[in-house]
Amino acid sequence: MVDTESVAGSFPVGNSSAVNELEVLMRQVARYDSTVLIQGESGCGKELVARRIHELSARGEGPFVPVNCGAIPRELLESELFGHEKGAFTGALTTRIGRFELADGGTLFLDEIGDMSLDMQVKLLRVLQERTFERVGGAEQRRANVRILAATHRDLESRVIQREFREDLFFRLNVFPIRVPPLRERTEDLPALIHDLVRRGEAAGRPSITFSDTAMTCLTGYRWPGNVRELQNLVERLSILCPGRSVEREDLPPAIGERRRAAESTEDAPRDLVAVPRGGIDLREYLGNIEKQLIRSALDLTDGTVAHAARLLKLQRTTLVEKLRKYDLQARVAT
Ligand SMILES: Nc1ncnc2c1ncn2[C@@H]1O[C@H](COP(=O)(O)OP(=O)(O)OP(=O)(O)O)[C@@H](O)[C@H]1O
Ligand SMILES: [Mg+2]
Repeated sequence: MVDTESVAGSFPVGNSSAVNELEVLMRQVARYDSTVLIQGESGCGKELVARRIHELSARGEGPFVPVNCGAIPRELLESELFGHEKGAFTGALTTRIGRFELADGGTLFLDEIGDMSLDMQVKLLRVLQERTFERVGGAEQRRANVRILAATHRDLESRVIQREFREDLFFRLNVFPIRVPPLRERTEDLPALIHDLVRRGEAAGRPSITFSDTAMTCLTGYRWPGNVRELQNLVERLSILCPGRSVEREDLPPAIGERRRAAESTEDAPRDLVAVPRGGIDLREYLGNIEKQLIRSALDLTDGTVAHAARLLKLQRTTLVEKLRKYDLQARVAT
């Protein structure tokens, strides 16, 4: 795994107009304490954008405190953010400082804000409006000098319409929106990104690799649903499989290597599977197999991380966990 801290300094890699615009926005907003809402697909670098804004800001020497609002169970999130007093609830054996206080003088990064429960959204809104909070079980009003950055892979505006995200909180957060472009919108950056990833792999002790022109064309034509994280995992895997040599088209995973043939149809969905053979099919078994393959491929793309795979499949994490059990598939349950 790459250490994100050391990567943020050279971020964003590439020279496409999308990347240059991103760089300009990050520099402009870093100078002020304005709240930034970072939106973009899974694995496109939202956390790196947050770290970079923090580093470029006057708070750069202060703490950068991330909170994954989607991964922390809702009943724990309040105490995670605001802390708790000793005895506030069963198990609160000692007083604990929350992330707001830990981020004092620095930046609080509210990651996956779109997954925050509605009742927590109310509490957060109050803190953002009044700039004061209380620890769980405490009465004292506290203040923390923090700059808020928030990120989500979800389309927050449509969640507002569906009443899953509070409109007032959305406006509070969306002071300065930044959209991080998906990799397929900036494939001209692929050579620079690959170069950077290979170099980082070498620094981590993995063999060097290069790519043939044909392999490069395949990479450029692929949709990259897992974005730079998917590319990073692929480069790591190939450097182990093809040490010290040029990666050919045949070395690429079928979804990428066979892309050029598939490119004639612009969709990614399987197209030629819809006719029932004369002998008939067992529909349930057939669909189950497709489901299993898609889950495997999503886990592949996300390095086996269930939360990310669930996102790619637009499933609840718990639903995916059930399916993994059903099909006896292995994955990491961390986020
Ligand atoms: N432009 C980039 N240049 C170099 N590395 C990048 C870039 N974008 C992302 N990465 C790498 O890809 C991985 C994913 O980045 P990051 O965690 O910031 O994405 P994210 O948008 O927060 O993803 P998620 O939505 O899944 O949380 C990281 O390991 C990061 O180092
Ligand atoms: Mg992230």
